[in-house]
Parts: sequence; structure tokens; C-alpha cells
Amino acid sequence: MPNPIPTIRLKRLRRTPATRSIFRETSFGIDDLVLPIFVDEGIDENVEISSMPGVMRIAEKRLPYEIERYAKAGIKAIMTFGVSHHKDAVGSDTWQENGLVSRMIRAAKEAVPEMIVMSDTCFCEYTDHGHCGVLHHHAIDNDATLVNLGKQSVQAARAGADFIAPSSATDGQVAAIRQALDAEGLHETAILSYSTKLASSLYGPFREAGGSSLQGDRKAYQVDPMNRREALRESLLDEAEGADALMVKPAGMYLDLIRDIRNASDLPLTAYQVSGEYAMIKFASKAGAIDEHNVVRESIGAIKRAGADLIFTYFALDLALQGI
Ligand code: PBG
Ligand code: ZN
Repeated sequence: MPNPIPTIRLKRLRRTPATRSIFRETSFGIDDLVLPIFVDEGIDENVEISSMPGVMRIAEKRLPYEIERYAKAGIKAIMTFGVSHHKDAVGSDTWQENGLVSRMIRAAKEAVPEMIVMSDTCFCEYTDHGHCGVLHHHAIDNDATLVNLGKQSVQAARAGADFIAPSSATDGQVAAIRQALDAEGLHETAILSYSTKLASSLYGPFREAGGSSLQGDRKAYQVDPMNRREALRESLLDEAEGADALMVKPAGMYLDLIRDIRNASDLPLTAYQVSGEYAMIKFASKAGAIDEHNVVRESIGAIKRAGADLIFTYFALDLALQGI
């Protein structure tokens, strides 16, 4: 028997860095990334979040400086999260004209008007019970929460937010917000819905970052991570309600859902690499088990390959500073 000689050799396209580079199917750059930030109204200096090494709670008065720094690095879009010291049962600070949500947006827009500001639209960082809406007999009152989402969204839009990004997993949230915005003539403000939001255990570090008061979990309103059909249905519903863009969150463990939605909808699709995904990569690389530089790029590239147009990641600033 002669030695078998393959005629098809896939290695031909892998021989040199230049060949690999021209045949690479997926790439990402600064235009594909959004930086989520935490702004604390109760501190004077930035404080590092211990479960997210390298990520800070930003002191509110330092926000303009930070926004300018991000813009210089090339960041085009941020998502704002408030760390509130004015919590109550319904999160009413979120719809005050001079509440933290509005102040963050105004400060960011004043510092760098062309920075795209997406306002995370929820209540869990502003409620004393830590749930994402109005509680009634220990359960979320969906429709009372819709009214408050409308109030918060109108206020955020007036403060200058480019995108309202509802993350409260409230049924009907996109339609309610669109209606509330349009009733005030705020037709230009877009809605980027956290449309497929899983009841994941990967939000732990975020809840530390945001000083969450949550007891229990969000399984009664976020999607069961084991449900693929329901995950698709959630995003298609938000499309039907008028969302301008969709999201899958978390990202890395849900690439199948990203692909399902990509195939079923023509809306822009985003994915959120959440705090737990960040922490896993950070702590594993700190321990010397993986190479941070490479794993960050592999994880974000994989999310892009699955079908996301835009990726929310706490690594966005590092990537921007390193020229991606
Ligand atoms: C709030 C919200 C959460 C995240 C974004 N918006 C947390 C939650 O649902 O508890 C998670 C972000 C992260 O973990 O990085 N509704
Ligand atoms: Zn919430």
C-alpha cells in the first residue's frame, strides 16, 4: 500500500500569518463594542470592584473626566448604571429630573456630545428590595412596573440618552416605553431591548458592583437558561413591539441563542458579556491558567461569529487602549 496522499489540504490556507489573516472569516473592532460603566453618587474617589478587578465604581464627580478618557481611547458608546444611595420601594429616583439616571446622562453628553449614551433602564439598583420593578405580595407587579418604565424612559430621553435599554424583563416593556416616548414627542430616542435575558448565575459580580439589595433571585421574570424556544420568542416579541435593536444576555454560554435570533430577525443584534464572564476570564488569567489577551479576543470574536453586531463588554476600554 502506498502512503495515502490527500488532495485536499486545509493547512494551505493556514500557512502564514498573512494567509490566515486574509482568510479570517470574523473580526471585530472598536465599532463593535460598548463599554458598560458604574457611577456611584456616594463616593469621592473611584473604587475598584473586588469581584471585577480592573473595573471601577466611578465617583459621580469624576464622570466627565472618565467620559473624555474613553472618547480619547476611541470608545463610541457607553451603557450607564447607577449606584444609588436613594433607594425606595419603587425606585422613584430613576424618574426624577435631577435623579442619578438623568445626571449621569447629562454629564456624559455634556463632556462628549458625540458619545452614544445608552441608559440601562431598570429599577433593581434603585429599589430597597433589589427587584427589577414594583413588588406586590413578594412578586413583581408587571403592569405597575410598565408605568414606571415609561416615566424613567421619558426622563432619560429628555436628559439626552440616545438609547433606552430596558433590562427589567417586564412583559410588554418595549411597547410601553415606545408609547410613553412618542406621547412626549421623543420619537428620535431608540430602544435597545435586553430582549432575551436569561435568569443566569453570572450576574453575581454586577450585583456587588451595583450595591444590590436583592434577596432571592429573578427566576420569576427572567428566562430559564435551559429554554431555547422561549428565548427566541422573547426577542421576536420585542421586535414586534417596536424595538430598534435586540440583545442576548449573557453572551458566551448562549451562542446558540444568538445564532437562532440572528437567523430569525433582521434587527441589529447585540450581546452582553456580563460581569461573571469578565470575572471568570480575569481571575483565571490572574491565576496563570489562561492568557488574558488571547482569551478576551477569542471570547469576543466567538460572540461576533455567532451573529452579534455589537457586544457589551467590560474589556472594551482595555481593547480600545490596546488598539483592539
Ligand atoms: C439589571 C441588570 C443586570 C445586568 C444588567 N442590567 C443584572 C441583573 O439582572 O441582576 C447584568 C450585567 C452584568 O452582570 O454584567 N436589570
Ligand atoms: Zn433590574
